[in-house]
Amino acid sequence: MYSKKIAGQFLILACVAVFSAAQAQKLPNVTILATGGTIAGTGASSTTTVGYTAAKIGVDALIDAVPELKKVANVKGEQVFQIASENMNNDYWLKLGKRVNTLLAQSDVDGIVITHGTDTIEETAYFLNLVVKSKKPVVIVGAMRPATAISADGPINLYNAVLLAGSQEAIGKGVLVSLNDQINGAREVTKTNTSTLDTFKTPELGFLGYIQGSKPYFYRQSTRRNTADSEFDISNLNSLPAVDIVYGYANMNPIAFNAFVASGDKGIIHAGVGDGSLASTVVPSIVEARQKGVIVVRSSRVGQGIVARNGEADDDKLDLVVSDTLNAQKARILLMLALTKTNDTKEIQKIFYQY
Ligand code: DGL
Repeated sequence: MYSKKIAGQFLILACVAVFSAAQAQKLPNVTILATGGTIAGTGASSTTTVGYTAAKIGVDALIDAVPELKKVANVKGEQVFQIASENMNNDYWLKLGKRVNTLLAQSDVDGIVITHGTDTIEETAYFLNLVVKSKKPVVIVGAMRPATAISADGPINLYNAVLLAGSQEAIGKGVLVSLNDQINGAREVTKTNTSTLDTFKTPELGFLGYIQGSKPYFYRQSTRRNTADSEFDISNLNSLPAVDIVYGYANMNPIAFNAFVASGDKGIIHAGVGDGSLASTVVPSIVEARQKGVIVVRSSRVGQGIVARNGEADDDKLDLVVSDTLNAQKARILLMLALTKTNDTKEIQKIFYQY
């Protein structure tokens, strides 16, 4: 009698194990690559939402804090690096991009989530949008409140990001940024508020969609080349060309521009006032930069709208490139990658009209 009871219990355990394994097989395999930021931040008290320390909590603790992840994906975690994202740089980008491509080439990885500081999340997202060689989902997520705060937004943002990265709907949509139940595309997303939960927006062109009730809803997608359709390959790159940004304002002077040229920059983004206007005080420096082979891109500090070629400057005569609708920080990323392919301004202008 006793042995029959034990046999029965073992049979039940075996059935549960088989069922669990079957369930796990049905769930997507999502890898979380942690890089730091507020989502991994800690504050002195539960009401500390500014003045906390970013990049303190490791990826395993982030995953353990959200047991619900197991309901939507088979999750693995890797700590790629641990920084506050104002310290992001080209070396980190190349390391992260190569790791993403290695993982996505594996048949047992269906999608990737990257936890990241929000200060430069839009730049990392656009860089990956240009160098990831797969249509599998890549979702970048952050938080505006540290993990120790009342109503921290990190856990729900991480849960939503993992279910989005494991979804069929996110395949082929390019790199996505997901916080606050909203889905933004990498090309246009930008941080619009220093501290509020709804800071990430695509101001004029709008969200790609929403996440509601553990399901993603898409209403549009990017029209520009990205990920698997991108020509840029970082697999053999150990550095990126030096490109910096000059910010335009009333009473403009050429000091910053000249310093970047003297430092050996290969390209300079001019974030001009209005439609990318060039103050007369900087035009001689721009002419000299072009004579030295430095590529100059006219962007705008405004943030929205098209910077029109030959609008506020004679781009043909000055041999300049216009950024189309890319803001200065994203134009910098595209120019760095374009310079790994060509120095020809006409070819670079085509690249700015395609990506
Ligand atoms: N230091 C900022 C960063 O790591 C904190 C902002 C955040 O992550 O939300 O981007």
